[in-house]
Amino acid sequence: MSAPASSPDRSKLAVVVLISGRGSNMEAILAASDAPDYPARVVGVVSNRPDAAGLATAQARGIPVRVVNHKDFPAGEAGRAPFDAALAEAVDSFSPGLVVLAGFMRILTPGFVTRYEGRLVNIHPSLLPSFPGLHTHRRALDEGVRVHGCTVHFVTAQLDHGPIILQAAVPVLDGDSEATLSARVLAEEHRIYPRAVAWFAQDRLRVEAGRVRVAGSPTTAVAAFHSPGGA
Ligand code: GRF
Repeated sequence: MSAPASSPDRSKLAVVVLISGRGSNMEAILAASDAPDYPARVVGVVSNRPDAAGLATAQARGIPVRVVNHKDFPAGEAGRAPFDAALAEAVDSFSPGLVVLAGFMRILTPGFVTRYEGRLVNIHPSLLPSFPGLHTHRRALDEGVRVHGCTVHFVTAQLDHGPIILQAAVPVLDGDSEATLSARVLAEEHRIYPRAVAWFAQDRLRVEAGRVRVAGSPTTAVAAFHSPGGA
């Protein structure tokens, strides 16, 4: 007898997504996971903000969500370890094989990062190592760079560092504003994050001397340059 259509496919990698807001990258991964041959499934979403818009998006799809509100913990350094312990407890309740940071706006303790080492990934809206931290699009415009983009990387204790899995580049156009540039980058984020998650789920990623090799296809990690409307 075949399983009912709604039963989870346990051959697929279980993924937990951590969000703080809109959750459009989470949505891109959820959309990709609708394809029958996509190798991962989102088993839970965790937010540090109860008002994160992405929570409703996940719930509408029947994905279980949990909130670990950072405001329930002491402000500053004193709250970091207890918050991360509660966050880890929430994440572990879903028994994930991969933890995906998707606009999760909290700095994680080294203890949390170590706990999920090798199975914790992040997307950052710049071509790292350029522009780690916040306000990447504004800073890219201020610097006058001609090429900008986004990066999916393994998370290490150093903020916005860690072995680079996949990048996509976009041009910075004359007359760009923070809004137009961020929209161009975001479209690429939605393209590369599901792909990187799939590679992880297919066990194709190997980190060697701080660099990521994509097994079976040495050229696929080369960043594509996507001009608006172009190929
Ligand atoms: C994205 O630009 C991501 O790269 C950054 O925060 C933003 C989150 O957007 N880390 P969303 O919540 O996925 O829509």
